[in-house]
Amino acid sequence: WDWDVVVVGSVNADLVVGVDRRPAPGETVLGSDLATHPGGKGANQAVAAARLGGRAGLVGRVGDDGHGELLRGALAADGVDLAHLLTTPDAPTGVALITVGPDGDNSIIVSPGANARLGPDDVTAARAMIAAASVVSFQLEVPLPAVVAAARVAAEAGGRIVLNLSPPAPVPDELLTRCDPLVVNEHEATYLLGEDRAGDPRALAAALARSGPRSVVVTLGADGVVVADGAAAPVRIPSPRAEAVDTTGAGDAFTAALCLRLARGDPLLDAARYAARAGAAAVRKAGAQSSFPTPDELPPPPADR
Ligand code: RIB
Ligand code: NA
Repeated sequence: WDWDVVVVGSVNADLVVGVDRRPAPGETVLGSDLATHPGGKGANQAVAAARLGGRAGLVGRVGDDGHGELLRGALAADGVDLAHLLTTPDAPTGVALITVGPDGDNSIIVSPGANARLGPDDVTAARAMIAAASVVSFQLEVPLPAVVAAARVAAEAGGRIVLNLSPPAPVPDELLTRCDPLVVNEHEATYLLGEDRAGDPRALAAALARSGPRSVVVTLGADGVVVADGAAAPVRIPSPRAEAVDTTGAGDAFTAALCLRLARGDPLLDAARYAARAGAAAVRKAGAQSSFPTPDELPPPPADR
């Protein structure tokens, strides 16, 4: 494979303000100074995989503006292959409006901009890159037709498909059944199953694994992850303890590290153990890409396993 991980996904400028609490409708609150960070779930994953030593590429779209330049620069600095990062003349670069609360928790509104212009033709143009990737990774901040088309290319080439169902949206069975794994948090898992099983993540993972994907990873934040590999009983993997400064991008760091280790031949459980360390590292620093670890910066695996 020419690439460990090729990501087909979004590129956003993250406009971040710290708040003590979020305003209710009709209310105004004061926040911190504005910080502008490179983000977007797709770009985040490409950067996280590259920073951990992976050969990573990104298929996506930015606008012809300052945010697009910022994002391009950040991706290039981490060595992400940008041959298929296109510039859209008639739409702004995607933006994420993010508030970070006192516990490092975030609320995000994404304005897709140029991301919404990514289409099946772009996938056709990037065909050679997608087909040469060991793992192809997707999220849902770009239009579904592009994702479905790229998953088809990856499947035909024998690549492994990882989908993070974020933000949650309905996906066709054709895509779901190719996921190995499907990566969801509890909210997204509940969305997919169409019923409330919160509180029992092992049951969630098992039910999801029966619904189509080859494997499923349910992320539980500080409580680690649950892995359901095929018909095997779901296994919970703890996360290293981490003082949360800003959880933004932690899920992307987790998924990217998972993809990278799968590309390098790790079994899913081992890949998830490594990925939990990358996710924990990312909550310790502000921003998304700015918080992603190099291999030296990974916390040790938790002692309690
Ligand atoms: O997952 C975190 C990311 O979600 C942020 O970087 C923001 O751009 C949104 O896409
Ligand atoms: Na972070």
